[in-house]
Amino acid sequence: MRLEILLIAASLALQTRAACDCGYAINSTDSPSHAFFTDYIETDFLQLQDVSYSGIGDTGWLPQIWNQTAAAARGQYGRSQEISNIVSNTAFGGNVEGLQLWVRSKVEDGMVSGAEIATNRTDILYGTFRVGMRVTGIAGTCSAFFWYRNDTQEIDMEILSKNVSIVNAILQSDASVGQGFNAQDTPTYQQYDAHTPLAQQFHEYRFDWLPGRVEFFFDGAKITGYMENVPNSPGHLMLSHWSNGNEAWSMGPPVEDATTTISYVKAYFNVSGSDKAFTCASQVAVCLIPEQTAALGSVSGNGSTSFFNPPPAQSSAPTSSATPTLASDAISPCMNANAWIWAWIAYTALVVLGC
Ligand SMILES: *[C@@H]1O[C@H](CO)[C@@H](O)[C@H](O)[C@H]1NC(C)=O
Ligand SMILES: *[C@@H]1O[C@H](CO)[C@@H](O)[C@H](O)[C@H]1NC(C)=O
Ligand SMILES: *[C@@H]1O[C@H](CO)[C@@H](O)[C@H](O)[C@H]1NC(C)=O
Ligand SMILES: *[C@@H]1O[C@H](CO)[C@@H](O)[C@H](O)[C@H]1NC(C)=O
Ligand SMILES: *[C@@H]1O[C@H](CO)[C@@H](O)[C@H](O)[C@H]1NC(C)=O
Ligand SMILES: *[C@@H]1O[C@H](CO)[C@@H](O)[C@H](O)[C@H]1NC(C)=O
Ligand SMILES: *[C@@H]1O[C@H](CO)[C@@H](O)[C@H](O)[C@H]1NC(C)=O
Repeated sequence: MRLEILLIAASLALQTRAACDCGYAINSTDSPSHAFFTDYIETDFLQLQDVSYSGIGDTGWLPQIWNQTAAAARGQYGRSQEISNIVSNTAFGGNVEGLQLWVRSKVEDGMVSGAEIATNRTDILYGTFRVGMRVTGIAGTCSAFFWYRNDTQEIDMEILSKNVSIVNAILQSDASVGQGFNAQDTPTYQQYDAHTPLAQQFHEYRFDWLPGRVEFFFDGAKITGYMENVPNSPGHLMLSHWSNGNEAWSMGPPVEDATTTISYVKAYFNVSGSDKAFTCASQVAVCLIPEQTAALGSVSGNGSTSFFNPPPAQSSAPTSSATPTLASDAISPCMNANAWIWAWIAYTALVVLGC
Protein backbone atom coordinates (compact mmCIF):
# COMPACT_ATOMS: atom_id res chain seq x y z
CA MET A 1 0.00 0.00 0.00
CA ARG A 2 2.63 2.48 1.06
CA LEU A 3 4.80 1.35 -1.80
CA GLU A 4 1.94 2.12 -4.20
CA ILE A 5 1.69 5.68 -2.89
CA LEU A 6 5.41 6.01 -3.26
CA LEU A 7 5.35 4.85 -6.88
CA ILE A 8 2.46 7.17 -7.75
CA ALA A 9 4.30 10.06 -6.12
CA ALA A 10 7.50 9.26 -7.99
CA SER A 11 5.75 8.97 -11.35
CA LEU A 12 3.84 12.22 -10.77
CA ALA A 13 7.12 13.92 -10.05
CA LEU A 14 8.47 12.78 -13.43
CA GLN A 15 5.34 13.68 -15.39
CA THR A 16 4.94 17.13 -13.89
CA ARG A 17 8.51 17.94 -14.71
CA ALA A 18 8.44 16.77 -18.32
CA ALA A 19 5.19 18.12 -19.67
CA CYS A 20 3.77 21.51 -20.50
CA ASP A 21 0.37 20.00 -19.94
CA CYS A 22 -1.48 23.30 -20.07
CA GLY A 23 0.01 24.24 -23.42
CA TYR A 24 2.50 26.71 -24.86
CA ALA A 25 2.03 30.45 -24.78
CA ILE A 26 3.17 33.42 -26.84
CA ASN A 27 3.56 36.43 -24.53
CA SER A 28 2.98 35.96 -20.85
CA THR A 29 -0.47 34.80 -19.87
CA ASP A 30 -1.08 37.87 -17.70
CA SER A 31 -0.55 40.11 -20.75
CA PRO A 32 -3.72 41.07 -22.63
CA SER A 33 -2.06 40.07 -25.92
CA HIS A 34 -1.19 36.42 -25.66
CA ALA A 35 -2.24 33.18 -27.24
CA PHE A 36 -1.72 29.58 -26.28
CA PHE A 37 -1.61 26.30 -28.14
CA THR A 38 -2.06 22.71 -27.06
CA ASP A 39 0.24 20.66 -29.31
CA TYR A 40 3.85 20.76 -30.45
CA ILE A 41 6.47 19.44 -32.82
CA GLU A 42 10.00 20.22 -31.67
CA THR A 43 12.72 18.90 -33.93
CA ASP A 44 16.42 19.17 -33.26
CA PHE A 45 18.00 18.52 -36.65
CA LEU A 46 21.47 18.67 -35.08
CA GLN A 47 20.80 15.15 -33.80
CA LEU A 48 21.47 12.05 -35.89
CA GLN A 49 18.44 11.16 -37.99
CA ASP A 50 18.08 8.54 -40.68
CA VAL A 51 16.32 9.81 -43.77
CA SER A 52 14.04 7.17 -45.28
CA TYR A 53 10.87 7.14 -47.34
CA SER A 54 8.86 6.44 -44.20
CA GLY A 55 10.22 9.39 -42.25
CA ILE A 56 13.18 11.36 -40.92
CA GLY A 57 14.13 9.51 -37.76
CA ASP A 58 11.05 9.64 -35.57
CA THR A 59 10.68 13.39 -35.89
CA GLY A 60 7.20 13.46 -37.44
CA TRP A 61 8.67 14.88 -40.68
CA LEU A 62 8.32 13.05 -43.99
CA PRO A 63 10.31 13.50 -47.21
CA GLN A 64 8.17 14.66 -50.13
CA ILE A 65 9.01 12.83 -53.34
CA TRP A 66 7.40 14.05 -56.54
CA ASN A 67 8.05 15.26 -60.08
CA GLN A 68 6.39 18.13 -61.89
CA THR A 69 6.57 19.29 -65.50
CA ALA A 70 7.76 22.79 -66.36
CA ALA A 71 4.17 23.78 -67.19
CA ALA A 72 2.87 22.54 -63.84
CA ALA A 73 5.82 24.11 -62.01
CA ARG A 74 5.15 27.39 -63.86
CA GLY A 75 8.81 27.83 -64.69
CA GLN A 76 11.33 27.25 -67.42
CA TYR A 77 12.07 23.83 -65.91
CA GLY A 78 10.12 21.19 -64.07
CA ARG A 79 10.78 20.22 -60.45
CA SER A 80 11.94 16.89 -59.14
CA GLN A 81 11.91 16.58 -55.33
CA GLU A 82 14.14 13.66 -54.40
CA ILE A 83 15.05 11.89 -51.18
CA SER A 84 18.76 11.93 -52.08
CA ASN A 85 18.68 15.73 -51.70
CA ILE A 86 17.69 15.45 -48.01
CA VAL A 87 20.84 14.79 -46.02
CA SER A 88 21.10 14.54 -42.25
CA ASN A 89 24.05 14.45 -39.84
CA THR A 90 24.19 10.70 -40.25
CA ALA A 91 25.97 11.25 -43.55
CA PHE A 92 28.76 13.10 -41.77
CA GLY A 93 29.49 10.48 -39.16
CA GLY A 94 27.72 12.48 -36.49
CA ASN A 95 29.42 15.82 -37.06
CA VAL A 96 26.92 18.52 -36.30
CA GLU A 97 25.74 19.98 -39.57
CA GLY A 98 21.95 20.01 -39.39
CA LEU A 99 19.55 18.81 -42.05
CA GLN A 100 20.69 19.76 -45.54
CA LEU A 101 18.23 20.45 -48.34
CA TRP A 102 20.03 20.41 -51.70
CA VAL A 103 19.19 21.88 -55.08
CA ARG A 104 21.31 20.37 -57.87
CA SER A 105 22.83 22.38 -60.68
CA LYS A 106 22.38 19.68 -63.32
CA VAL A 107 19.04 19.75 -65.15
CA GLU A 108 17.77 16.19 -65.71
CA ASP A 109 14.84 15.33 -67.97
CA GLY A 110 13.93 19.02 -68.00
CA MET A 111 13.69 19.20 -64.22
CA VAL A 112 15.74 20.84 -61.46
CA SER A 113 16.25 18.45 -58.58
CA GLY A 114 15.46 19.80 -55.09
CA ALA A 115 14.30 18.82 -51.61
CA GLU A 116 11.09 19.09 -49.62
CA ILE A 117 9.87 17.82 -46.26
CA ALA A 118 6.46 18.07 -44.58
CA THR A 119 4.98 17.22 -41.20
CA ASN A 120 3.00 14.02 -41.23
CA ARG A 121 0.29 15.90 -39.33
CA THR A 122 -2.15 17.70 -41.62
CA ASP A 123 -4.49 18.92 -38.87
CA ILE A 124 -2.46 21.98 -37.85
CA LEU A 125 -4.81 24.94 -37.29
CA TYR A 126 -3.24 28.14 -35.83
CA GLY A 127 0.08 28.23 -34.05
CA THR A 128 3.56 29.70 -33.83
CA PHE A 129 6.13 28.19 -36.21
CA ARG A 130 9.88 28.73 -35.98
CA VAL A 131 12.86 27.44 -37.95
CA GLY A 132 16.61 27.85 -37.47
CA MET A 133 17.89 28.02 -41.04
CA ARG A 134 21.02 29.01 -42.97
CA VAL A 135 20.03 29.60 -46.57
CA THR A 136 22.26 29.03 -49.55
CA GLY A 137 24.12 31.99 -51.03
CA ILE A 138 24.34 30.45 -54.49
CA ALA A 139 21.92 32.35 -56.73
CA GLY A 140 19.04 30.57 -58.40
CA THR A 141 17.04 28.85 -55.65
CA CYS A 142 14.14 29.47 -53.30
CA SER A 143 14.34 28.42 -49.63
CA ALA A 144 10.84 28.18 -48.21
CA PHE A 145 9.41 27.69 -44.72
CA PHE A 146 5.65 27.46 -45.02
CA TRP A 147 2.32 26.20 -43.84
CA TYR A 148 0.18 24.75 -46.60
CA ARG A 149 -3.40 23.67 -47.08
CA ASN A 150 -3.89 24.45 -50.76
CA ASP A 151 -3.00 27.16 -53.27
CA THR A 152 -5.38 29.69 -51.71
CA GLN A 153 -4.60 28.92 -48.05
CA GLU A 154 -0.85 29.12 -47.57
CA ILE A 155 1.53 31.05 -45.30
CA ASP A 156 4.99 31.48 -46.78
CA MET A 157 8.42 32.76 -45.82
CA GLU A 158 10.69 32.54 -48.85
CA ILE A 159 14.29 33.60 -49.37
CA LEU A 160 15.51 33.82 -52.95
CA SER A 161 19.25 33.30 -53.20
CA LYS A 162 19.44 35.81 -56.09
CA ASN A 163 18.77 38.45 -53.44
CA VAL A 164 19.81 36.93 -50.20
CA SER A 165 19.16 39.81 -47.81
CA ILE A 166 15.41 39.80 -48.53
CA VAL A 167 12.75 37.81 -46.68
CA ASN A 168 9.49 37.48 -48.63
CA ALA A 169 6.43 37.28 -46.35
CA ILE A 170 3.41 35.98 -48.24
CA LEU A 171 -0.15 34.79 -47.78
CA GLN A 172 -1.33 33.00 -50.91
CA SER A 173 -4.96 33.69 -51.66
CA ASP A 174 -7.70 33.73 -54.27
CA ALA A 175 -6.08 36.99 -55.45
CA SER A 176 -2.67 35.39 -56.03
CA VAL A 177 -4.22 32.44 -57.89
CA GLY A 178 -6.21 34.99 -59.94
CA GLN A 179 -2.90 36.64 -60.91
CA GLY A 180 -1.47 33.42 -62.26
CA PHE A 181 -0.16 32.06 -58.93
CA ASN A 182 1.76 35.24 -58.28
CA ALA A 183 1.28 36.98 -54.94
CA GLN A 184 3.60 39.87 -55.81
CA ASP A 185 0.80 42.29 -56.73
CA THR A 186 -1.54 41.27 -53.92
CA PRO A 187 -1.95 43.02 -50.55
CA THR A 188 -0.49 40.06 -48.67
CA TYR A 189 2.99 40.13 -50.18
CA GLN A 190 5.88 42.10 -48.65
CA GLN A 191 9.64 42.11 -48.84
CA TYR A 192 11.65 42.66 -45.68
CA ASP A 193 15.25 43.73 -46.14
CA ALA A 194 17.34 42.24 -43.32
CA HIS A 195 20.35 44.33 -44.50
CA THR A 196 22.60 41.35 -43.91
CA PRO A 197 23.62 38.41 -46.10
CA LEU A 198 21.30 35.72 -44.75
CA ALA A 199 23.46 32.96 -46.21
CA GLN A 200 26.31 33.51 -43.76
CA GLN A 201 24.51 32.52 -40.57
CA PHE A 202 21.64 30.65 -39.07
CA HIS A 203 18.67 32.88 -38.36
CA GLU A 204 15.26 32.21 -36.92
CA TYR A 205 12.35 32.66 -39.34
CA ARG A 206 8.97 32.60 -37.66
CA PHE A 207 5.30 33.15 -38.23
CA ASP A 208 2.45 33.32 -35.74
CA TRP A 209 -0.91 32.36 -37.22
CA LEU A 210 -3.97 33.29 -35.20
CA PRO A 211 -7.64 33.52 -36.10
CA GLY A 212 -7.83 36.52 -38.47
CA ARG A 213 -4.14 37.47 -38.18
CA VAL A 214 -0.68 36.35 -39.31
CA GLU A 215 2.55 37.96 -38.06
CA PHE A 216 6.05 37.33 -39.42
CA PHE A 217 9.30 37.55 -37.43
CA PHE A 218 13.02 37.53 -38.15
CA ASP A 219 15.34 36.70 -35.23
CA GLY A 220 12.48 37.46 -32.84
CA ALA A 221 11.61 40.90 -34.27
CA LYS A 222 8.28 41.39 -36.00
CA ILE A 223 8.75 42.26 -39.67
CA THR A 224 5.17 42.45 -40.91
CA GLY A 225 1.65 41.17 -40.39
CA TYR A 226 -1.63 40.74 -42.26
CA MET A 227 -5.30 40.72 -41.29
CA GLU A 228 -6.65 39.66 -44.70
CA ASN A 229 -6.35 36.43 -46.71
CA VAL A 230 -5.74 34.65 -43.41
CA PRO A 231 -6.22 30.86 -43.68
CA ASN A 232 -8.91 29.32 -41.47
CA SER A 233 -8.64 25.58 -42.17
CA PRO A 234 -6.13 22.88 -41.19
CA GLY A 235 -2.98 21.97 -43.10
CA HIS A 236 0.66 20.99 -42.62
CA LEU A 237 4.03 22.62 -42.05
CA MET A 238 6.68 22.32 -44.75
CA LEU A 239 10.26 23.14 -45.70
CA SER A 240 11.44 23.25 -49.28
CA HIS A 241 14.50 24.16 -51.30
CA TRP A 242 13.74 24.37 -55.00
CA SER A 243 14.32 26.00 -58.37
CA ASN A 244 12.38 26.07 -61.63
CA GLY A 245 14.22 28.70 -63.64
CA ASN A 246 11.37 31.22 -63.35
CA GLU A 247 13.02 34.59 -64.13
CA ALA A 248 10.56 36.44 -61.88
CA TRP A 249 11.15 34.27 -58.83
CA SER A 250 13.65 31.48 -58.10
CA MET A 251 15.67 31.90 -61.33
CA GLY A 252 18.26 29.12 -61.57
CA PRO A 253 19.23 26.37 -61.70
CA PRO A 254 22.17 27.33 -59.46
CA VAL A 255 25.62 27.19 -61.10
CA GLU A 256 26.69 24.61 -58.53
CA ASP A 257 24.87 22.31 -56.11
CA ALA A 258 23.42 24.52 -53.37
CA THR A 259 22.37 23.66 -49.84
CA THR A 260 20.10 25.27 -47.29
CA THR A 261 20.60 23.90 -43.78
CA ILE A 262 18.03 23.48 -41.01
CA SER A 263 19.11 23.33 -37.37
CA TYR A 264 15.70 23.13 -35.70
CA VAL A 265 11.98 23.55 -36.07
CA LYS A 266 9.77 24.45 -33.12
CA ALA A 267 6.06 24.48 -33.81
CA TYR A 268 3.39 25.01 -31.14
CA PHE A 269 -0.12 24.77 -32.53
CA ASN A 270 -3.74 23.76 -32.15
CA VAL A 271 -5.29 20.92 -34.09
CA SER A 272 -8.62 20.51 -35.81
CA GLY A 273 -11.02 17.67 -35.28
CA SER A 274 -10.38 17.09 -31.62
CA ASP A 275 -13.78 16.66 -29.94
CA LYS A 276 -12.08 16.23 -26.58
CA ALA A 277 -12.23 19.36 -24.42
CA PHE A 278 -8.77 20.62 -23.54
CA THR A 279 -8.06 20.07 -19.85
CA CYS A 280 -4.95 20.35 -17.79
CA ALA A 281 -4.09 19.55 -14.23
CA SER A 282 -3.29 23.08 -13.19
CA GLN A 283 -4.33 26.28 -14.95
CA VAL A 284 -0.95 27.82 -14.24
CA ALA A 285 1.24 25.17 -15.89
CA VAL A 286 1.51 26.96 -19.23
CA CYS A 287 4.97 27.03 -20.79
CA LEU A 288 5.97 30.43 -22.09
CA ILE A 289 7.78 29.98 -25.41
CA PRO A 290 11.15 31.75 -25.18
CA GLU A 291 12.01 34.37 -27.81
CA GLN A 292 14.98 33.70 -30.06
CA THR A 293 16.27 37.21 -30.60
CA ALA A 294 19.77 36.61 -31.93
CA ALA A 295 21.23 34.95 -34.97
CA LEU A 296 22.21 31.43 -34.10
CA GLY A 297 25.94 30.92 -34.11
CA SER A 298 28.35 30.63 -36.92
CA VAL A 299 28.74 29.00 -40.29
CA SER A 300 28.62 25.49 -38.91
CA GLY A 301 25.38 23.97 -37.65
CA ASN A 302 25.52 25.72 -34.36
CA GLY A 303 21.95 26.67 -33.67
CA SER A 304 21.63 26.74 -29.94
CA THR A 305 18.02 26.94 -28.85
CA SER A 306 15.89 25.42 -26.12
CA PHE A 307 13.24 22.73 -26.26
CA PHE A 308 10.51 21.92 -23.75
CA ASN A 309 10.39 18.28 -24.77
CA PRO A 310 13.79 16.61 -25.09
CA PRO A 311 14.04 14.23 -28.05
CA PRO A 312 14.17 10.49 -27.40
CA ALA A 313 17.59 9.24 -26.27
CA GLN A 314 20.01 8.64 -29.13
CA SER A 315 22.19 5.58 -29.24
CA SER A 316 25.19 7.51 -30.49
CA ALA A 317 24.27 11.16 -30.22
CA PRO A 318 26.98 13.60 -31.24
CA THR A 319 28.22 15.82 -28.45
CA SER A 320 27.58 19.41 -29.29
CA SER A 321 27.09 22.76 -27.67
CA ALA A 322 23.61 22.65 -29.14
CA THR A 323 22.38 19.68 -27.13
CA PRO A 324 18.78 20.56 -26.33
CA THR A 325 18.01 21.63 -22.82
CA LEU A 326 14.74 21.56 -20.98
CA ALA A 327 13.77 25.21 -20.80
CA SER A 328 13.03 25.02 -17.11
CA ASP A 329 13.27 28.77 -16.68
CA ALA A 330 10.33 29.14 -19.03
CA ILE A 331 8.16 26.72 -17.12
CA SER A 332 5.97 28.31 -14.51
CA PRO A 333 7.57 28.26 -11.05
CA CYS A 334 4.38 26.69 -9.71
CA MET A 335 4.90 23.68 -11.89
CA ASN A 336 8.48 23.25 -10.78
CA ALA A 337 7.44 23.65 -7.16
CA ASN A 338 4.87 20.88 -7.60
CA ALA A 339 7.46 18.60 -9.09
CA TRP A 340 9.84 19.23 -6.23
CA ILE A 341 7.14 18.61 -3.65
CA TRP A 342 6.29 15.26 -5.24
CA ALA A 343 9.94 14.35 -5.50
CA TRP A 344 10.40 15.26 -1.85
CA ILE A 345 7.37 13.16 -0.82
CA ALA A 346 8.74 10.22 -2.79
CA TYR A 347 12.18 10.65 -1.24
CA THR A 348 10.78 10.96 2.29
CA ALA A 349 8.68 7.84 1.77
CA LEU A 350 11.81 5.99 0.66
CA VAL A 351 13.67 7.11 3.77
CA VAL A 352 10.75 6.24 6.06
CA LEU A 353 10.40 2.80 4.50
CA GLY A 354 14.10 2.38 4.99
CA CYS A 355 14.73 1.05 1.50
C1 LIG B 1 2.65 39.47 -28.33
O1 LIG B 1 3.07 40.76 -27.98
C2 LIG B 1 3.54 41.54 -29.06
C3 LIG B 1 4.10 42.83 -28.50
O2 LIG B 1 3.14 43.43 -27.66
C4 LIG B 1 2.42 41.76 -30.06
O3 LIG B 1 2.90 42.48 -31.19
C5 LIG B 1 1.90 40.41 -30.52
O4 LIG B 1 0.80 40.59 -31.39
C6 LIG B 1 1.48 39.57 -29.33
N1 LIG B 1 1.10 38.24 -29.79
C7 LIG B 1 -0.13 37.76 -29.59
C8 LIG B 1 -0.36 36.37 -30.05
O5 LIG B 1 -1.02 38.40 -29.07
C1 LIG C 1 -6.03 26.68 -28.85
O1 LIG C 1 -6.87 25.69 -28.31
C2 LIG C 1 -7.21 25.92 -26.94
C3 LIG C 1 -8.01 24.71 -26.47
O2 LIG C 1 -9.08 24.48 -27.30
C4 LIG C 1 -7.99 27.23 -26.85
O3 LIG C 1 -8.38 27.47 -25.51
C5 LIG C 1 -7.10 28.35 -27.36
O4 LIG C 1 -7.77 29.60 -27.33
C6 LIG C 1 -6.67 28.05 -28.79
N1 LIG C 1 -5.71 29.06 -29.24
C7 LIG C 1 -5.96 29.89 -30.26
C8 LIG C 1 -4.92 30.89 -30.56
O5 LIG C 1 -6.98 29.83 -30.94
C1 LIG D 1 11.43 11.85 -61.22
O1 LIG D 1 12.26 12.00 -62.35
C2 LIG D 1 13.57 11.46 -62.17
C3 LIG D 1 14.40 11.84 -63.41
O2 LIG D 1 13.76 11.47 -64.55
C4 LIG D 1 13.45 9.94 -61.99
O3 LIG D 1 14.73 9.39 -61.78
C5 LIG D 1 12.57 9.68 -60.76
O4 LIG D 1 12.36 8.30 -60.62
C6 LIG D 1 11.23 10.39 -60.89
N1 LIG D 1 10.55 10.30 -59.61
C7 LIG D 1 9.24 10.09 -59.50
C8 LIG D 1 8.68 10.08 -58.11
O5 LIG D 1 8.52 9.88 -60.47
C1 LIG E 1 1.51 9.53 -39.89
O1 LIG E 1 0.25 9.74 -39.25
C2 LIG E 1 -0.61 8.63 -39.27
C3 LIG E 1 -1.91 8.99 -38.58
O2 LIG E 1 -2.43 10.15 -39.12
C4 LIG E 1 0.04 7.45 -38.57
O3 LIG E 1 -0.79 6.31 -38.71
C5 LIG E 1 1.40 7.16 -39.19
O4 LIG E 1 2.06 6.17 -38.46
C6 LIG E 1 2.26 8.41 -39.21
N1 LIG E 1 3.51 8.13 -39.92
C7 LIG E 1 4.69 8.55 -39.48
C8 LIG E 1 5.87 8.15 -40.30
O5 LIG E 1 4.83 9.23 -38.50
C1 LIG F 1 -8.60 25.75 -49.97
O1 LIG F 1 -9.25 25.33 -48.77
C2 LIG F 1 -10.35 26.14 -48.39
C3 LIG F 1 -10.87 25.62 -47.05
O2 LIG F 1 -11.21 24.28 -47.14
C4 LIG F 1 -11.42 26.10 -49.49
O3 LIG F 1 -12.51 26.95 -49.13
C5 LIG F 1 -10.80 26.59 -50.80
O4 LIG F 1 -11.75 26.46 -51.85
C6 LIG F 1 -9.57 25.74 -51.12
N1 LIG F 1 -8.90 26.29 -52.31
C7 LIG F 1 -8.54 25.51 -53.33
C8 LIG F 1 -7.81 26.19 -54.44
O5 LIG F 1 -8.80 24.33 -53.38
C1 LIG G 1 17.07 42.93 -53.95
O1 LIG G 1 15.82 43.40 -53.47
C2 LIG G 1 15.80 44.80 -53.18
C3 LIG G 1 14.46 45.13 -52.56
O2 LIG G 1 13.43 44.73 -53.39
C4 LIG G 1 16.04 45.57 -54.47
O3 LIG G 1 16.09 46.94 -54.17
C5 LIG G 1 17.36 45.12 -55.07
O4 LIG G 1 17.53 45.71 -56.32
C6 LIG G 1 17.38 43.60 -55.27
N1 LIG G 1 18.68 43.17 -55.71
C7 LIG G 1 18.83 42.26 -56.69
C8 LIG G 1 20.24 41.89 -57.02
O5 LIG G 1 17.87 41.79 -57.28
C1 LIG H 1 29.33 28.19 -32.56
O1 LIG H 1 29.25 29.60 -32.81
C2 LIG H 1 30.14 30.36 -32.02
C3 LIG H 1 29.83 31.83 -32.29
O2 LIG H 1 29.81 32.13 -33.65
C4 LIG H 1 31.59 29.97 -32.36
O3 LIG H 1 32.47 30.70 -31.55
C5 LIG H 1 31.76 28.47 -32.07
O4 LIG H 1 33.05 28.08 -32.49
C6 LIG H 1 30.73 27.65 -32.84
N1 LIG H 1 30.81 26.25 -32.44
C7 LIG H 1 30.81 25.25 -33.34
C8 LIG H 1 30.83 23.88 -32.76
O5 LIG H 1 30.78 25.44 -34.53
